[in-house]
Amino acid sequence: MGARRDPRRGFYPWTRLGLCLRPVLFLGLCCWQTRGVATPDQVKPLITMEQLLWVSGSVIGEVNTFRVPLIAATPQGTLLAFSEARKHSASDIGAKFIALRRSLDKGATWTPTSFIVDDGSLQDGLNLGAVVVDSEKDIVFLVYTLCAHYNKCPTASTMIIRSRDDGITWSIPRNLSEEVGTTMFAPGPGYGIQKRYEPKKGRLIVCGHGTLLRDGISCLLSDDHGLNWQYGRQPLHGIPYGKEKLLSDFNPDECQPYELPDGSVVINARNQNFYHCSCRIVVRSYDACDTLPLENVNFDDTLVDPAVAAGALVKSGLVFFSNPAHERQRVNMTLRWSFTNGSSWWKEPLQIWSGASGYSSMTSLDGAAPEDAHSLFIIYEKGRFQSTESVSVVKININGKL
Ligand SMILES: *[C@@H]1O[C@H](CO)[C@@H](O)[C@H](O)[C@H]1NC(C)=O
Ligand SMILES: *[C@@H]1O[C@H](CO)[C@@H](O)[C@H](O)[C@H]1NC(C)=O
Ligand SMILES: *[C@@H]1O[C@H](CO)[C@@H](O)[C@H](O)[C@H]1NC(C)=O
Repeated sequence: MGARRDPRRGFYPWTRLGLCLRPVLFLGLCCWQTRGVATPDQVKPLITMEQLLWVSGSVIGEVNTFRVPLIAATPQGTLLAFSEARKHSASDIGAKFIALRRSLDKGATWTPTSFIVDDGSLQDGLNLGAVVVDSEKDIVFLVYTLCAHYNKCPTASTMIIRSRDDGITWSIPRNLSEEVGTTMFAPGPGYGIQKRYEPKKGRLIVCGHGTLLRDGISCLLSDDHGLNWQYGRQPLHGIPYGKEKLLSDFNPDECQPYELPDGSVVINARNQNFYHCSCRIVVRSYDACDTLPLENVNFDDTLVDPAVAAGALVKSGLVFFSNPAHERQRVNMTLRWSFTNGSSWWKEPLQIWSGASGYSSMTSLDGAAPEDAHSLFIIYEKGRFQSTESVSVVKININGKL
């Protein structure tokens, strides 16, 4: 649908009324975010569609392995799916493309793969990355890294490309390291956010992790719709700071931010060295990621995790979380949801795939169509034996309707 995303939708009485006049089927969901009446019996997430977007093994464009999938929805309601297309091997290092497929019909069909970035034959090529949609200006940004592993290359670069036409064409890459420096920053993997509420409404936030030189989690911020970027004042450092980590040291890693209705930002992070638990690190910022204070760090024991990039999303007043729910292995892709802003999780999660499953990321449409209020999309690494075999997308109906 052509509806533009209005970040305030649902908070104005006339919009709410319009939605509530829909058939009874949608009544349960349309008013949650304003009335806070979501009840467990209204929420029964159900998979209504699944498609393999990419298959590894040199069958698509002779690409060896597709990994690190991202997904985003544009203000036009187009879905954009991205992944690393690793040319010659499954390794994190090596030459790659960035692959893109678009869906104009809410995930039913997808365009053929286009390769929107090609790093040539670099020894330590590109790594994804974070997609961030500026819905105020209708721009999609994609941030990625070159030379993230310093493998036969001296300097890491943070690169950004931009689309102003719904993901059809992309700018040439801009080298953000010229402005923010060359210490390695690996965004996401996942999406960046645009603040919907104060403080700093409209700010673009892209969080990621670094190496020992930028130890822990930091966020790139833009208050002028992506013209200028800078790091937040206070990152979340690993402990011991700047030193090699041992098992059980504090080592916050790949991460996904989301904004709660009170305007705070929660960053849900990979607990790389299993500090405290085999579960997720959660840090909350009350100043739009200017600071990520250590005293705002928590461990979510319910979110059992094998140290992986996971998905998190706020939708219709609920917080959703996706990961391979297992202490050590990348298996058992699972969706959880929270009625309490992420402070607890509903006791019966939805298993998406019992077998090999790795990185995941989520998005949802935000248009005026009733369907948009209750669907979400999870893109994830899926396989029979290894999670790197393919990238799949599932469409979920939150209230269990086919
Ligand atoms: C990006 O800019 C940095 C800082 O000027 C530079 O060291 C690096 O080589 C540049 N990277 C690319 C890919 O041009
Ligand atoms: C899969 O995840 C669910 C939910 O956390 C859990 O109950 C179940 O034991 C997990 N299965 C495996 C094989 O880990
Ligand atoms: C979630 O946060 C919002 C905004 O602070 C608050 O109004 C609401 O009561 C919270 N919900 C729960 C269940 O704590």
